[in-house]
Formats: sequence, structure tokens, C-alpha cells
Amino acid sequence: MSRVASWPIAGRIMRTSRDVKSPYSARELSKETWPDFEKLFLKKGIGDGWWCWCTYHHEMSHSSVEKKQLKTRAKIAVRNHSEKRTLVEKGQAHGIIVYANEEPVGWCQYGPKDELPRMDGRRRYRRPKLEDSSGNRFWRITCFIVQEDHRGRGLASAALEAALDGIRMKGGGLVEAYPVSNSDQGANYHYCGTVSMFEKAGFKTIAPLSEGRTSTAIMRRAI
Ligand SMILES: CC(C)(COP(=O)(O)OP(=O)(O)OC[C@H]1O[C@@H](n2cnc3c(N)ncnc32)[C@H](O)[C@@H]1OP(=O)(O)O)[C@@H](O)C(=O)NCCC(=O)NCCS
Repeated sequence: MSRVASWPIAGRIMRTSRDVKSPYSARELSKETWPDFEKLFLKKGIGDGWWCWCTYHHEMSHSSVEKKQLKTRAKIAVRNHSEKRTLVEKGQAHGIIVYANEEPVGWCQYGPKDELPRMDGRRRYRRPKLEDSSGNRFWRITCFIVQEDHRGRGLASAALEAALDGIRMKGGGLVEAYPVSNSDQGANYHYCGTVSMFEKAGFKTIAPLSEGRTSTAIMRRAI
């Protein structure tokens, strides 16, 4: 199983007890780690992941006739679970699974642009100029999940750093994200992360993306 080479989580989480080994580690999603991914997404207290299975950004639109016929989230969950497994088997889904003492407790999805095309269909989305996209190596970081009882300890931020390590190891390029700039809504609405955590990871805001109770922005960074 592949482990992310540099795992920066210890400094953040174990701030008050540096001499104690961090219980957290990370692995890339793969056919081998699929059972861990599945275990995480079948847990209670993981937000909307239980029915989305992080398939939303893999598709341009959810308005296909087949999807419209699925009336309940439970039915959508079955379909999305199967879709995600197929993508993983084909090597068309990427992300970082975070473990606490070998138990999966967190997740950050990333991938090359064409693997996560959802944003391309958004009216307010601004494509980067070709020269900005570092030789067409163009990546997206779209989703986070942290199990409820592990939240508020910097796990999502550390998963972001691990995702950037994963992108760097695959050759790097331009990395784009769509985090929340302002919200009066709950944790589920923050599934793309927050502007502050991306700023701390070296991203810059390019433009607003959506406005409302939860506002989001387009952010980018080259690595
Ligand atoms: C959003 C979420 C990933 C945050 O995880 P976390 O490990 O608690 O986040 P971190 O501790 O790394 O915090 C990162 C930043 O986000 C902020 N943040 C975290 N949760 C927040 C919330 N609910 N509201 C506002 N800000 C929040 C933190 O204050 C921190 O800001 P800072 O960098 O300025 O200090 C987590 O709450 C979650 O899993 N929510 C459900 C998401 C979901 O439904 N995903 C399904 C996708 S299909």
C-alpha cells in the first residue's frame, strides 16, 4: 500500500505533545485501499458522503434520465457507491484517506481536471488561460470528509497537504479548488474546505464562484 511520502499532520495535531507519535497516517485511494474508503463512507457522522460517495464532481451534471428516476437518497447512494467503485477499479478516482490508528476517519478528493469536470459546466466558472495551466497539468481538489469525532483538529488541512504531496509526486501543475469564503450554514456545506485553509496552503483567490448563505471562491496554486 502506498503511503504519502511526507505526512505533515503531526506538527498540527500533536502541537501540545510533540514527543508523542501522531496516531494519524494517510494513504492514496486505490484498489487496495478501496475497502478502507468504503468503510469510511458507510459510517455515521461523515456528512453527505454517505449518499454522494464523492461522485458529484466526477460528472458534468446529475440530470441524466437515469439519475432523475432515483427518488430517494438511499437509492442514489447505491448507484453512487457502484459508480465510485468502477472509477477506482479503472484508476479514474484519486484521493487521500486519513487514518487514526489504522482506522479510516478522513478523506480529501483530488484528481486531474478531466476526472473531475463538474465545474466546467458552471456558468460563473472561469477557466485558466492555457499558459497558466503549467503545460496542461491541471488538477482539482474538490471534497473533504472528516468523521465528526475527529473534527476541529486540523485533519482536513493536513489531508489537503497530503493531497498536494500526491499531486507533486504525479508531476505537479496548476491546482484549483472551490472552498467556502463565507457561510452561516453547517459543516456539510464546508465539504469543499474553507478559503482560510487553502490560503495557508499557498492558494490565491482568483474570483468568486457562488454567493448566498454559503459563498465560494475559485482558488489556485501552482506546484
Ligand atoms: C468541513 C470539514 C471537512 C472540516 O474538517 P476539520 O478537520 O474539522 O477541519 P480543520 O480542523 O482542518 O479546519 C480547517 C479550517 O476550516 C474551518 N472550519 C472547519 N469546519 C468548519 C465549519 N463547520 N464552519 C466554518 N469553518 C470551519 C476551521 O476553523 C479551519 O479554519 P482555519 O484554517 O482558519 O483555522 C468537516 O467538518 C466535514 O467533514 N464536514 C462534512 C463534509 C461533507 O459533508 N462531506 C461530504 C462530501 S460528499
